[in-house]
This record gives sequence, structure tokens and C-alpha cells, in this order.
Amino acid sequence: MAYTVPKLTDYSAAALDRAAADSHHACQSEAAAVRNDADLKSFRDRWMARKNGILTQINDLWLKGAPPEAKREAGIQVNRLKARITELVEGAHVSPTGALDSEAVDISLPGIRRPIGAEHPVIKTMHEIVGVFEKLGYSVAEGPVVETDYYNFEALNFPPNHPARDTQDTLFIAGQKAKPQRDRLLLRTHTSPVQIRTMEKLRPPIRIVIPGKVHRNDPPDASHSPMFHQIEGLAVDTNITFGDLKGTLDHAMKALFGSSVKTHFRPSFFPFTEPSAELYVTCFICGGSGKRGTDNAPCRPCKQTGWIEVLGCGMVDPNVFEFVKDNGYDPKKVSGFAFGMGVDRLALLKYGVDDIQLFFQGDVRFLEQFG
Ligand code: DAH
Repeated sequence: MAYTVPKLTDYSAAALDRAAADSHHACQSEAAAVRNDADLKSFRDRWMARKNGILTQINDLWLKGAPPEAKREAGIQVNRLKARITELVEGAHVSPTGALDSEAVDISLPGIRRPIGAEHPVIKTMHEIVGVFEKLGYSVAEGPVVETDYYNFEALNFPPNHPARDTQDTLFIAGQKAKPQRDRLLLRTHTSPVQIRTMEKLRPPIRIVIPGKVHRNDPPDASHSPMFHQIEGLAVDTNITFGDLKGTLDHAMKALFGSSVKTHFRPSFFPFTEPSAELYVTCFICGGSGKRGTDNAPCRPCKQTGWIEVLGCGMVDPNVFEFVKDNGYDPKKVSGFAFGMGVDRLALLKYGVDDIQLFFQGDVRFLEQFG
């Protein structure tokens, strides 16, 4: 039944309230029922027309008809109702979908906040290191995580059954025994196989860095994880010397850890470099003193030595070049240096995290501290 304005006999505040609420409610449902432009026009006219519109009727019946003692209260109620109805009438519209206004989506409601992701601390560290070498003109190369014995070991001068293989506890893919050893698949234990893969594709000179995931059969503890990350580097050209290696890595360490760090090379052994070295930097936690704070507490990250080992490096062994000789890498004509570092270990040191497992458990409460 269409709404009609009632005559009032009871002018109490409660009765006026009820009458105003009824009228407002009627207007609301009529606004929601507007389906087209014609509806909209008749709805507006019905409520707002000067001559005999509902608001005019309310004015006449409720205000002018009020007894003198109720005029004030009636005036307040009628004015308030007029404002609310005018608002409804002005806001009324034809809904584009023809949906009822009561079903429409309130686009002024705030949305659901989507938390913004951030780089994982290991990936962030990886990007920083790669960035330092990119500025030196290095490009980025990548290779497979599931690798053959040939690339992971043989072409890097680890002969079959050589004890040097035991230094890298390897996870082998099952069911490979029927294949010749060099074709058997394993999870790469280092990023060094991508040195060979890249030299097979690109002729010298080359300067590349190789970031990636590696795996070893190490039980997880605070400093070991069966999966971790490395960045490999390789520069090959004519007349590359150990001096180039030292200068490049000294620059890179200063760029990464601050210009006051000192570098130090100690002799080492890797099958694919000769000579080989381990690179140490002055501990960026204690500044090289081995002690921390005013009470001279022992510095743990450098085990009080003042030096931290950051990578392995050396001059590419001529035996390695022999495997890619046909692509321009004649060991009599070219020379090069290589290096490889553990990214996770550097991220632990950089952020003062004491357990590598935290990096891989995916706990947002830990990770969001780096966002
Ligand atoms: N691949 C070695 C490892 O995982 C690290 C390494 C040492 C890489 C010396 C190199 C290098 O390129 O020249 O232990």
C-alpha cells in the first residue's frame, strides 16, 4: 500500500517520532524501488512537489494543524524529517544493474588491506652482491639445480673416485646407476658447474656472476642447511693475473661491508683452481679486534680472530680450460680467476642472525623484520 500522510491527533514527542520514522521508511523503500528514469521522476514529484507533494502535506497536516503548545516540537520534527527526505530524494538513482539499492555494494567501505611483500633477507643479500659485480661489468648467468656428475665434478677437475669429491657431501638422484657416471644426475653441490656451462656457450673474454641454490647432504643445524645459496664468479681473458683477482675481490668486499674492511688471502685447495685461496675480511662486527663492547666480550662471529672467511677463489686450473678448449679457451692463450661464496652465511653475519634455519622456516614474524 502506498504511503499516505496521516492526520495527527496525538502530538506527543513519541507520536511525532513514530510518524516521522514511518514517513522516512516509506521514502526509503520507494527510493530503492526506482528502476528507470520515469520511476525516478515520479518518485521525486511525489515527495517534493510544491503543490501537494508529500513534504508539503506533512507541513500542512502536522505543522499547521498542530495545537499551539505542540508547535515548537512539531516544527523541530518536521524540519528534521524534511532534511532527511530531501537527502534521500537527491540521492535516489537508477541502479545500473537494476539491483535493489539495499543489495548494492557500498564502495565507500574501506577494502581489505593486502600486506605488501618484501625481499627475503637471503635474496636481498644475493641482489646486493650481484649488484656490486654488475657495476664492474659482470653479467649474470644461471644453470640447473639438478646437474650431471660431469658438470658438477668431472669438468671441474674432480676425477671419478677422486677423494676431493668427499669434501662435498652429495645428494644423488636415485635410479641413475645404469648410466655412465658422467651422465648421472645429482643436486649440484656448488654453483661452479655453471662456469663450464657458460664457457661452452660464450667465447672469451667473459665476466660473469652466477647466483643460485645448491644442496649438500648436511644435517640441518644453526650453521648448516641441506639447501643454501652461492654466488660464483668467473673472469676469463688474456693476461688475467692473481693481481686482478685480488683487486677485484678487495673492491667487492669494501663495496659490500664498508670501505674500512681489509682483505687477506690464505692458501687453500680447490681442484678447479690453481693456485687457490680463501679470502678473509676483517670482522665487520668487532672491527678486527676480536673483542666486543666496553667489557671486551669475545666476538663470536669471528671466533675472536678478528677475521671472517667469506669465500674460496683462485686462478682457473688449466685442466678446466681443457674441457672447453674448443670454444676458445686454450689454456696457453687465456687465463682467468674464479670465486665462490655462501650467500646465506653472509646474510647471517650481515643481519646478526644466529640460526640459518630461521631463513627457511617461512615464519612471517621473523621475515617481516627485514621488510
Ligand atoms: N665451489 C666451491 C665450494 O662450494 C667454492 C669455490 C672455491 C668456488 C674456489 C670457486 C673457486 O669458483 O675458485 O666450496
